[in-house]
Amino acid sequence: MPKITINDQQYEAPPGKTIIEVADEVGVQIPRYCYHPDIGVEGSCRMCLVEVEKSPKLTPACATPIADGMIVRTTTPRVQQAVRYAMEFLLLHHPIDCPVCDQSGECWLQDYYMDHARHTSRYPGTQKTQRLKAHTLGPLVKLDRERCILCTRCVRFTRNVTQTNEITVFHRGHASEIGVAGDRPFDNPYSVNVVDVCPVGALTSTDFRFKVRAWFLQGTSSICAGCSTGCNLRIDHSARALGGGAPGYSATEGTIYRTVGRRNVEVNKSWLCDEGRLSFHTMERWPRLRAAREHGSPRTVAELLPVVHQRFEAIREQYGPAAVAALGSATNTNEALFLLKKYFHNRVDFRLGDEVETYRKRQDDLLRRWDKHPNTRGALDLGLGGDLGGLRGLREMAERRQIRGMWIAFHPQLVGEDAREIVDELRRLVDALEFSVVSATHDFPWMANARIVLPMAGWAEEKGTYTNFAGRVQITARAVAPPGDARPLHLMMSELLALAGVQVSADPAAIFDWIAREVPLYADMDYDAIGPLGIVPPARPAAEIEPETEMVR
Ligand code: SF4
Ligand code: SF4
Ligand code: FES
Repeated sequence: MPKITINDQQYEAPPGKTIIEVADEVGVQIPRYCYHPDIGVEGSCRMCLVEVEKSPKLTPACATPIADGMIVRTTTPRVQQAVRYAMEFLLLHHPIDCPVCDQSGECWLQDYYMDHARHTSRYPGTQKTQRLKAHTLGPLVKLDRERCILCTRCVRFTRNVTQTNEITVFHRGHASEIGVAGDRPFDNPYSVNVVDVCPVGALTSTDFRFKVRAWFLQGTSSICAGCSTGCNLRIDHSARALGGGAPGYSATEGTIYRTVGRRNVEVNKSWLCDEGRLSFHTMERWPRLRAAREHGSPRTVAELLPVVHQRFEAIREQYGPAAVAALGSATNTNEALFLLKKYFHNRVDFRLGDEVETYRKRQDDLLRRWDKHPNTRGALDLGLGGDLGGLRGLREMAERRQIRGMWIAFHPQLVGEDAREIVDELRRLVDALEFSVVSATHDFPWMANARIVLPMAGWAEEKGTYTNFAGRVQITARAVAPPGDARPLHLMMSELLALAGVQVSADPAAIFDWIAREVPLYADMDYDAIGPLGIVPPARPAAEIEPETEMVR
């Protein structure tokens, strides 16, 4: 392997890598605007210039492959001066309006100015070119042309990643500017990724702009629950009480303001689809269920769990163990589904519709899949797709009085809507049962006749694991607190199991360790080893492992 020395430290790296790639891997900071690891090299901004020994000119680190024996320096006075000049050039016509710019606080121009430039502009502010501001590029993206530094990341995203080619550079030289040809709207299903890659405040998201300052946000690494791909993302939420907030949340419970693609080259590179990115708004679509009730009267979850246990035990005693069952969903975590299976003696299903038929099927050739649940593969791995026949089978058994008591855990799908037939089946199931317990994130009309209703934590309000379509186990994190008395399903199940005499830790890590001991596919897995990028269980047969990035450009 070639050996390369960066700032007097020697590293080995595979041939074909560029200087900036090796520097990123070993933690040496090289400034950049046009370079992005998942878009391709442009070599136009000149921010990444470095000194390479025996090379008379400074070299762009993003466009220079390493060679054996190469000696690179990134902090010499020549390099620093070149970066200062590049910054001064980029800021010539840039409006100095950071206080009213939505990117302020997370802007690469601000950061690099403080780190590498700190010059006083030699260009009179009155002569700065004025260009179009707050121009609508598409339904989800706005462009401020004055702030654009022409790095062409957005252009290359639509050219190389979505291959839709909407954004392009018009005119030449000083007149160059970014835009969309003709009247074509910029509305491809992955459009907001250009906001993520824009290093400055030129491209902003219509959903997020001017809602909150970046420095008030706290980021939590998690997984999108919008479909079975399981894209990695960061949830940006309020870090402290800000006042106001989205309907259904008080500020102290936490408000999610946006999600941003988190790089995982095995799953989604740096990208999210727009539906998944905005799917956190689904949690605001209906009134949240904040308190438990029995026969419509308010109670607490703590009061009702012993009642639920006694009633299920009585039904089992009177009609036999088969008279009690449960229905989870593929939006529940592995930990919740596993404990559901334990408490309900394997009489558990999770299939609301056609998840099992569609969880591997692509909706397009980038990321989206037809199954709008994050954990169908996990539910199957845990052995939940048994002979109960899914939602319809359970409803038929309830109508035939073969099942008399059920726990129904319902989390709406975050992308799109649960089909009308599913909602009708749920209503009929509740009506057919002698004793029905519904744990749900929202107060849906179909559960009006349930005997007991329990508020359940939803996506981003609980911690646990999902297994994506390809078999990768990933951690979904708790970013905000659930509303009112709502609690995660795994917690309610661990309390029911305790009432049944089985002591279970409420910690998802401990529950996962139990899964690893009992589920052969997850054998020898360790929750702490899953890490931020997830892992494919070592015991999964090679033939079952799906290629993940085959099509992700
Ligand atoms: S709009 Fe942003 S991403 Fe696109 S060229 Fe300008 S600065 Fe770069
Ligand atoms: S492709 Fe699926 S998992 Fe990825 S962002 Fe979209 S909805 Fe979420
Ligand atoms: S990052 Fe290398 S030239 Fe722009």
